[in-house]
Amino acid sequence: MIVLGVESSCDETGLALYDTQRGLLSHALYSQVAMHEEYGGVVPELASRDHIRRAIPLLEQALQGAAITPQQIDAIAYTQGPGLAGALLVGSSVACSLGLALDKPVLGIHHLEGHLLSPLLASEPPEFPFVALLVSGGHTQLMRVDGVGQYELLGETLDDAAGEAFDKSAKLLGLGYPGGPAISRLAEFGDPEAYKLPRPMLHSKDLMFSFSGLKTAVLTVAKNQGLANICEQDKANIARGFVDAIVDVLTAKCVAALKQTGLKRLVIAGGVGANKQLRASLDAAAAKKRFKVYYPELEFCTDNGAMIAFAGAMRLQINPLAAQRDYSFNV
Ligand code: KG4
Ligand code: ZN
Repeated sequence: MIVLGVESSCDETGLALYDTQRGLLSHALYSQVAMHEEYGGVVPELASRDHIRRAIPLLEQALQGAAITPQQIDAIAYTQGPGLAGALLVGSSVACSLGLALDKPVLGIHHLEGHLLSPLLASEPPEFPFVALLVSGGHTQLMRVDGVGQYELLGETLDDAAGEAFDKSAKLLGLGYPGGPAISRLAEFGDPEAYKLPRPMLHSKDLMFSFSGLKTAVLTVAKNQGLANICEQDKANIARGFVDAIVDVLTAKCVAALKQTGLKRLVIAGGVGANKQLRASLDAAAAKKRFKVYYPELEFCTDNGAMIAFAGAMRLQINPLAAQRDYSFNV
């Protein structure tokens, strides 16, 4: 069975083809990051319009890469939400129009399920059950995953998501959009002793997170140094203080979730999962506490079509009726 995946929830247009026999056949991706950069964040209207421009050329690219014809597609999976409404509407209308034209069934996929299952696209995928840390721009959640569709929420953020904290703190320091990779790079040059920032909820004895206070701490430190003329080294020191704090909290909560569930496998998903410092910290904890940690391929950490095609294929393997010839899409 070949599933076409369509992702358009935010600022990446992704189309991919996944074959349940042969694995991922192709994936085509266009990131709008450069377009939104000058506004310091995603402009929803521009995002929707750009998805419209990119979707069909990316579909052609994916089909070419997989060397198949549109008729060979068995089902179409699209991101149903959560995400920007206008952006989601583009992906769902592309998916439903294709479904109607090709007479193929369609199914909506929860964006977070796409992220959650993306580490299973790796060459050595984890077995179920596992604990998953989902760290994206919009979400921070710890889940127990017993199988496809069998998810138990263990904890989540009370306010900002981890990616949001990265992006907002980076913005305060005058770094570009998206801020996550930028603040992470800058932190490498920072002095870890210069600023010890708070580790919110580190000792809360549950699996909840809170990052808005950390962002405020970055603002306070930056203001104290004089926001406008803060020197590069000091910026790097603040970045280091921020990254160390957030990584400490994420690592400690993952370890606590493993302890609570008694599981020995940890899976990381979502854009922040690409973070170098987080990976190093989790690898160190895994070696010390004897658990195994799995990451998606770097290209599948942030939004992409492959994870949606894959999640669709997994859903259909469990329930072939999950996809329907119902083209009245809803997002
Ligand atoms: O999963 P994703 O692509 O989109 C959402 O579903 O939100 O995640 C995007 C988030 C952004 O906040 C971005 O700054 C963050 O992931 N991110 C990173 C890194 N790469 C992306 N954060 C920290 N370090 C990175 N290397
Ligand atoms: Zn995402």
